[in-house]
Amino acid sequence: MIRAGPDPPGDGGHGPGADLHGVVGAGCTDGQEAPTGTARTVLRPPHHRAAWPSAARGRFGVRVLSGSRNELEPFARSWSVRRMRARATAYRIPESTIEEAVIAMKAVALTTFGGPEVLTLSDVAAPQAGPGQVRVRVRVAGVQHFDARIRRGWTPPYLGAVEPPVVPGNEFAGVVDQVGEGVTGLEVGAEVLGFTTLGCYAEYVVAPAAQVVRKPAGMPWQIAGGFSGNGQGAHMALRELGVGPGDTVLIHAAAGALGTFSVQLAKAWGATTVIGTASEENHAYLRSIGAVPVTYGDGLVERVRALAPQGVDAAMDNAGPDALRASVELVKDRHRIRTMVSDEAAQELGVPPLTPARSATRLQELADLYAQGQIELHIRAAHPLERAADAHRALETGHGRGKIVLTVAD
Ligand SMILES: NC(=O)c1ccc[n+]([C@@H]2O[C@H](COP(=O)([O-])OP(=O)(O)OC[C@H]3O[C@@H](n4cnc5c(N)ncnc54)[C@H](OP(=O)(O)O)[C@@H]3O)[C@@H](O)[C@H]2O)c1
Repeated sequence: MIRAGPDPPGDGGHGPGADLHGVVGAGCTDGQEAPTGTARTVLRPPHHRAAWPSAARGRFGVRVLSGSRNELEPFARSWSVRRMRARATAYRIPESTIEEAVIAMKAVALTTFGGPEVLTLSDVAAPQAGPGQVRVRVRVAGVQHFDARIRRGWTPPYLGAVEPPVVPGNEFAGVVDQVGEGVTGLEVGAEVLGFTTLGCYAEYVVAPAAQVVRKPAGMPWQIAGGFSGNGQGAHMALRELGVGPGDTVLIHAAAGALGTFSVQLAKAWGATTVIGTASEENHAYLRSIGAVPVTYGDGLVERVRALAPQGVDAAMDNAGPDALRASVELVKDRHRIRTMVSDEAAQELGVPPLTPARSATRLQELADLYAQGQIELHIRAAHPLERAADAHRALETGHGRGKIVLTVAD
């Protein structure tokens, strides 16, 4: 007989027939046997019960059951010990701990690379916070061009290999629901935003506590979830450019997510004039965030010269090789040009490469600027997690203003 209870009771060793504890999905009521196929999580030996994730029970509306191995094993079989094992690598969960990964979650886990249609929702094992890490119940995840490249099969050189199944997404906002050993300064229930490498298109993400900062009071979740990636990209580029008081700065693709941060950061750091390129449709938007708009395309160099007869001191290319070449014509010192998109052209033109370095310090500085009212983030669209494919389709048009995000939970 399978029994239900608020906590995993009993203690019965781990041999055949011993009591084990499992969690089954919504749809089961206390004392009822869950129909095969509804189990959302797997058997777990009793000695692991100290880590029983009570918060997640609420999230999934689950019941904790106990029973003999024979009684509970159908749940494990019907659900996913095997799938968890197969997908564990995506979460870097050591295989030996998979049976501790008792809570299943919804995630967009790529099993193959390709077009947006490969972004489908599936049930996977939720990651568990290890030492120095926190687990966050994701409210909103940001969508970046990086994610679309991963989806198409690109491997960033520093990752070695990205093999399916892989959960995309490098930025998130949500509520801490597990705190790993040795973490100080963050508690269960803390509202945070942060960054990882992969794993954010999911109900739960694990990140080093050192990559998480508290969400500023009043920052909407959608903004928090889309804040880290492009915010940090803009911050690192403009810092390397030494943008400051008195500068005239040119930002290419200024209406996009990266451009939106770049324009406002340059202004916040004292730039006298920020000129931003965009289609005419986005000129009013550029004015609203503090840039002088200019249309991209043929004749850009002349148009910028007309707007800045004093000259352009620094330029950030978020658009492509043509924008980088225009920057080289306009800026005297090539050390004051950076590109986020045109690495090969940069090498040919003697423009220094950007040294990427995300950090919580950088993110905190951006969050503080938000709290001071110096940075806003326009949300272009918020798609539910299960519509991640639509989010990628919109992103890959290459046009639009502000940031696209995925809403994961209310
Ligand atoms: N290296 C890195 O670390 C890093 C980090 C983040 C992003 N990126 C790259 O930076 C680029 C921008 O990212 P994002 O997130 O801001 O993209 P996004 O939100 O999709 O915005 C793209 C912007 O590009 C503008 N645009 C389109 N064609 C253009 C052209 N020919 N010249 C100038 N602007 C043009 C669009 O303006 P209109 O709508 O007005 O046409 C749009 O606002 C992407 O290529 C991305 O991969 C690199």
